[in-house]
Parts: sequence; C-alpha cells; structure tokens
Amino acid sequence: MFKKETYAARRERLRKDMGHGVIIIPGNHEAPCNYRDNTYWFRQDSTFLYFFGLQREDMVGVIDCDGGKDYIFANDYDIDDIIWTGPLPSVSELAAQVGVEHTGDMSQLAAFCNRAVASGTRVHFLPPYRADIRADLAGWLGLAYSAVDSYASLPLVLACVEQRMIKSDEEIAEIEKAIATAYNMHVGAMKLAMPGRYEYELAGFMEGEAWKGNGPVSFPIIMTTHGETLHNHGHNNRLEVGRMLVMDAGCETPMNYCSDITRSVPVGGKFDARQRAIYEIVLGAQLEAARVTRPGITYKEVHQAASRKLAEGYKELGILRGSVDDIVEAGAHSLLMPHGLGHMMGLDVHDMENYGQINVGYDSETRPSEQFGLGSLRCGRKLQPGFVITDEPGCYFIPALIDKWQAEGTCRDFVNFAELDKWRDFGGIRIEDDVLVTSTGSRILGKPIPKTVEEIEATMAS
Ligand code: GLY
Ligand code: MN
Ligand code: MN
Repeated sequence: MFKKETYAARRERLRKDMGHGVIIIPGNHEAPCNYRDNTYWFRQDSTFLYFFGLQREDMVGVIDCDGGKDYIFANDYDIDDIIWTGPLPSVSELAAQVGVEHTGDMSQLAAFCNRAVASGTRVHFLPPYRADIRADLAGWLGLAYSAVDSYASLPLVLACVEQRMIKSDEEIAEIEKAIATAYNMHVGAMKLAMPGRYEYELAGFMEGEAWKGNGPVSFPIIMTTHGETLHNHGHNNRLEVGRMLVMDAGCETPMNYCSDITRSVPVGGKFDARQRAIYEIVLGAQLEAARVTRPGITYKEVHQAASRKLAEGYKELGILRGSVDDIVEAGAHSLLMPHGLGHMMGLDVHDMENYGQINVGYDSETRPSEQFGLGSLRCGRKLQPGFVITDEPGCYFIPALIDKWQAEGTCRDFVNFAELDKWRDFGGIRIEDDVLVTSTGSRILGKPIPKTVEEIEATMAS
C-alpha cells in the first residue's frame, strides 16, 4: 500500500473536482467459481484500490463532497469468520491505514444513501461491471436492477479518468516492478520455445513466474502458434519449427499495478527469411511509435505513424501497392492489423475501461474513427506527461479476412491478393511494450526484454 496521505490526497482532489454530492465506490465481493465457498482469486476493484487502497472484500468507500468526510462501510468479522481466516484487523483499523476516520457497518449504508436521496443530494457512482455490485446499488439507492446503469455518473467517470490517467512516480515504480516480473516470464518462456513442447507448458511456466513475483497474471495468457487469432486463449498446440509463437502476457504486483508485454519468437530459436522479413516490419513500426510518442501528439497520430511504417514494409514485400499515404488513408494495411496500436495501462491492464472505453481513450477534440482497424484503436486521445500506454503493433494473416476482402474487392487497388496468398498460413506476430509519456518524449518502461532478431536468437540459444 502507498502512504495513507496518498489516498487522502486522491480523495481530496476527487472531492474538489466533483464539487457536490456523495460518491459511492464499492469494493468487490468474492466471486464464486463453481459453488459459494470455492471462489475465483479475489481481485479488488481498481477504483476502490485507487482511492481507498484496501484489499479486503465487501467494503464500500464513500466520499461526501459537501460534508468533507470520507467513510468506509463494512462489517467486522466475527468468531465464525475468524475460525477460518485467522485474526484480522477491524474495519476501523483498516480504514485508519488509508486515512479514513469514519466507518460504519453495511446496514448503515442504505440509511446513509436514503438520507442523501431524501435531501436531494446527488449520489454519484460508476457504471458497475459486476452483477452483484449492480444489485447492491439497486438496493442501497432504491433503483430497479435494470435501471442502475442509466443512473451512473458521467461527471464521476470523467473526474476519475482525469486523475488516474496521469501516473505518479510511485505508480510508475509499481508498474516497473510488474515489468521486472514480466521480464522473467518472457525470457524464460523464450528459452522453452523449442519443438516438441506444448503451448500449455510455456503458459504454465509464465503463470508460475507471475506468482513468483507475488501476483497473478494481469489477463489470461496468450501463448499461441496461431497468433493470427488475436486473443487466442487455447494452449494446446505442439510447437513446430516454422511457426512463430506469440506470447502476450503480463502480471500484477501485490498492489495490482500491471504489465502487458508481447514477444513473438520463432519456434526453435532461429528466424527464417520470411519470419525475419515480417518481424523487422513490425519492429520498425513499434520503434517508430515509441519514437514519435510525446506530449501534445494524439495517439491516433502515433497509430498512423506506425501504420505508415507497416505500409512501407508491405509495399517492399509486394503485398500492398500504391503510395504509402494512400494506403494508410484507405486503411488497406488494416487487413494485416485489424486492431489499434494500444491502450492505457495502470491498475487495470486496459486501464479504466470499466468506465466506458470511449471516456478513457478519447477526449472532446479526438473522437474514434469509423474506419476498419483504426476504429479499434482503444486510445486515440492527446498525450500528456504521465500517461502509460501500450505500443503493440502486429501483423496477422487471417485467412477468413483475406478471403472476405478479396471476394468483396475491398481496397483492391492497394492489395496484391496473389502475392498475399503466399503468406496465408504464416500466422501472426505482435510486439508490445509499455511506454511512459515523459515531459519531452517517451520512455519504454522496465528493463529491456529481448526484442531485436539478434537479441531473441541469442537469448533462445543461451
Ligand atoms: N493483452 C491484451 C492486450 O494486449 O491488449
Ligand atoms: Mn498484451
Ligand atoms: Mn496490450
């Protein structure tokens, strides 16, 4: 946990930014897996973590803007719990750790909300992403379950985004701890990427390395020799020479700050000529994006700078034709990268996307595109110092998509379908790092994880 003053200052800023009303920030409950007492690993809600810092389940934080007080509502454990859990701090002791003086039990929360509603005070809450929290809000506020989301507070969403999108030095240090563990996950898995092994062995190794760093993975591991399926969570393929292996994996620190790293390596440790050709194109785009990332540029512009590098490379390979500017304007390169360059990262691997991705990734000046590919860019807004954002271009030969574009004649002036056909069984490549926007430019966070062809081959040979 950070110092209690950090949480108090965050709540004070939110109180000021919101001005009036009562803000309710529920922590998460345990989530049953197959029966009530066999739960999934507990993950605290990130907004609760940001403002109240506590890892215990079944707590609700309240920030009263008009009264100037903060509260935590939760029930103390009784002896029936303690038999199973061992002694635990009381709610008031926990609250004191994060600078909150006022506590109450859960039965008092509904009454607190009733008083606020009766006095005409606006009660602000974020759109819930779990059904149990939606049901709680319905109960506390006397709303129909199905109506809860429509009462979520856009001003609260925007105030939380404004604050959380700028990472402090202590948050950056936490993210770099998560990347240090991701280094061990990725370098170890690279060395295991030899023919005859199975994807699940490498995924299992990575998961173990994450827990060795004292946290879980930050999202289900992608470990696949079919990287053309973007979020491929199956791990059953046998590794064969000739396949590229896409490894997209990160972890969380005990405070739940995340890493999100992708490396793509040739099974067996040696790039063949085709693999090297595509790899160098994607790497060129990834480095170009980091090079141009700086305050004041939009991430949409950075995406397009990376797109130009991809288009240049595909032109040289003979897959695309025409001028690079025309290719990018038409979106023809998106046939090979139907996703955006990146997203914010922090306490969530896709940071704050529970607030509604558009509210996080875009601002009043920069709106999402409707074009295929660019329209999937999760974050396009103008960059500011303190943003942490992923830089993750890729190249994917997706047979079903290629066939669709060819049948429909999409971008037929720019795509050489005969040449492209020679690559349709290639699979995919993605390269991803986590990047900090600094006052003058950007910095790829963490200890560098092998990324060039030479670095990867040397690592896999060691
Ligand atoms: N790990 C999912 C992503 O890179 O966005
Ligand atoms: Mn990723
Ligand atoms: Mn990512």
